[in-house]
Amino acid sequence: MSSYAIIGGSRGIGLELVRQLSGRKNVHVLQADVIDHHALKVAADKVSELTGGTLDVLIHSAARMDHTSLYRRLTDYADDNQLDADFTEAFRVNVLGIVHSINAFLPLLRKGGFKKILVMSSGAGDRELAWKARVATSAAYGTTKAAANMVMTKYAVLLESEGFTVFALSPGYVDTTDTAVDQPDEAGKAALDEMLENIRKVYPGYDPAPAPLSLAVKSILMAVQQADPSQNGQYLPAPRLTS
Ligand SMILES: NC(=O)c1ccc[n+]([C@@H]2O[C@H](COP(=O)([O-])OP(=O)(O)OC[C@H]3O[C@@H](n4cnc5c(N)ncnc54)[C@H](OP(=O)(O)O)[C@@H]3O)[C@@H](O)[C@H]2O)c1
Repeated sequence: MSSYAIIGGSRGIGLELVRQLSGRKNVHVLQADVIDHHALKVAADKVSELTGGTLDVLIHSAARMDHTSLYRRLTDYADDNQLDADFTEAFRVNVLGIVHSINAFLPLLRKGGFKKILVMSSGAGDRELAWKARVATSAAYGTTKAAANMVMTKYAVLLESEGFTVFALSPGYVDTTDTAVDQPDEAGKAALDEMLENIRKVYPGYDPAPAPLSLAVKSILMAVQQADPSQNGQYLPAPRLTS
């Protein structure tokens, strides 16, 4: 039986990944903040005890997605201190968090059968999309998601000769409202609608409705299962399943 570690499995896409994989039995829930590298190493040690020192697949889904920050533009902060604090926290979770979780689990992945690492990305980190669709919101989130793509690339280069498949995947807009801890306020909702409409104008085939969680995650797992070393270093859009 193959082994998966899902980082950020308490809610949203990560939780649904756990749910869909848990048909396999043997689900173990471990707690760690991704900015706490010591806690991640402790979690990796526990996984190692459970699996006999190996791990086949790491999926890093954790990200800071709180709605207060998510719709802010660079000029929407009360002051520079608030801007600094928001960017710093986003960077610690969305960028360094990936580095610490991969580093903690790398010794296990090196001994694993598949050597696959998926970093969950986002269109918010796509420079071309931000420019073409004129997306000024998600300033901190989008900037850190762009940096997350570079982190993925650095690991892909580093681990290429060892046969790893390190890739990033953008899940598209997914409905995670059932487990959300907050909702956008009216201004946030207006910013989201405007962004989706702008994307649709640039990409007329784009469906602005969020994908149902179970289908989105099914497609993510399909991409993970099909990924092979020829996709090392790639940023993939998730195939969008309709059933
Ligand atoms: N949903 C979408 O439409 C969408 C679109 C594009 C990309 N994505 C990407 O998909 C991934 C999952 O998004 P989601 O919508 O499922 O988000 P979500 O529902 O907000 O869930 C985020 C997960 O990350 C965890 N997390 C946040 N900060 C953490 C920290 N410091 N340490 C450990 N875990 C932490 C949360 O744990 P807690 O329960 O402890 O907070 C939660 O399990 C993210 O990488 C996101 O950027 C999502």
